[in-house]
Amino acid sequence: MTEVRATNITWHEGHVSREDRQKLLNQKGATIWFTGLSGSGKSTIAFTVEHALVERGHLAYVLDGDNIRHGLNKNLGFSAADREENIRRIGEVAKLFADAGVLTLTSFISPYRKDRDQVRKIHAEAGLPFIEIYVEVPIEVCEQRDPKGLYKKARAALAEGKGMGFTGVDDPYEAPTSPEIVLRNDQITPQEAAAQVLQYLESKDLLPRLSK
Ligand code: ADX
Repeated sequence: MTEVRATNITWHEGHVSREDRQKLLNQKGATIWFTGLSGSGKSTIAFTVEHALVERGHLAYVLDGDNIRHGLNKNLGFSAADREENIRRIGEVAKLFADAGVLTLTSFISPYRKDRDQVRKIHAEAGLPFIEIYVEVPIEVCEQRDPKGLYKKARAALAEGKGMGFTGVDDPYEAPTSPEIVLRNDQITPQEAAAQVLQYLESKDLLPRLSK
């Protein structure tokens, strides 16, 4: 649990409402949360969806694990506590973006169910849509793809008896129990996966259907 150290603070309400921003942008904000193993293709799908949304005239933005760890979260590692803090911060940032009216896509392994559920909870409390997408790809496939060579590194570390706490190798991944969408990204292309996400957004009135 995060220790609360901020005291003597008061919430200050602005003069512009969420509805005002929705009218300005002609869209509703939402958080679209991708979770899955390293190498499952979360970021590729998220960036494909972002591109498609912008092409359709919508404001969308990807918060990507590797990228955010270059800046905002550069002081966090991969212990359970640091991963929890990583997800807590991004959950809060995504909530702010969604409140601002942005279709916000997040791409983080986010291995712990309770951390993702906590992000879901703060969105529900704020009346903001939260869509959890499980990018389900067997570890063998992720390991074979190994785009960053990290599975190889993790196996070598393990063989030397050290280990590096790499998700799926010697660190846990807890799959979602009831995600809004499951993408079997080893059986479909990233474009097909992105199309499924867009269809879902249309079905929830978060994205106008393309007129024929
Ligand atoms: S999370 O677990 O805290 O959600 P996050 O998505 O931000 O992880 O970062 C994962 C990325 O960091 C991986 O795609 C990989 O490139 C890199 N990485 C480096 N070390 C590890 C590790 N021990 N476990 C998982 N990913 C790691």
